[in-house]
Amino acid sequence: MRRLRPLPPLPRDDGFWDAVGPLWRHPAVQSMARYPQHGEASCLSHCLAVAYLSYRCCLRRGLDARAAARGGLLHDLFLYDWHTYRPARGEGLHGFTHPRRALENARRYFALTPVEEDVILRHMWPLTPRLPATAEGRVVTMVDKYVSLLETFRRPASLEPGALLLRWGVLLAGK
Ligand SMILES: [Fe+2]
Ligand SMILES: [Fe+2]
Repeated sequence: MRRLRPLPPLPRDDGFWDAVGPLWRHPAVQSMARYPQHGEASCLSHCLAVAYLSYRCCLRRGLDARAAARGGLLHDLFLYDWHTYRPARGEGLHGFTHPRRALENARRYFALTPVEEDVILRHMWPLTPRLPATAEGRVVTMVDKYVSLLETFRRPASLEPGALLLRWGVLLAGK
């Protein structure tokens, strides 16, 4: 069984928690803590990092930060360990199919806006061919790749939200 790091300290940001609080407390979302994502990061830790960075990025750009936060938190709600998962006969590989699975699970538990659905369904572009239709979807798509790279290659301290935000802020500022 793969060892998973505990969650990093949660961001202290009332606006963010106003957007995602009910989702965060839901057992289906919390169950992502059981599943490894990249390196020692759980799916829950990954989705939280993607949600928060996407939220801050969209807030700064005057986009729908709430939808980015909610869609970001749910974007990998596929609810299995993809490292050991064996697709059923006729089912495609995880990389291609999990956005649809995550969307189906998210719809089961939550009422989603069209922007949130776009965020979840299109986040694997360009592996899946359709570019997100919304700016929020494009932000989450890029943030997802950024967080995934950090989780795969960086040491744990770099994954704390403060450290992530610092790097992301520097990137956005073009410094
Ligand atoms: Fe994903
Ligand atoms: Fe992801």
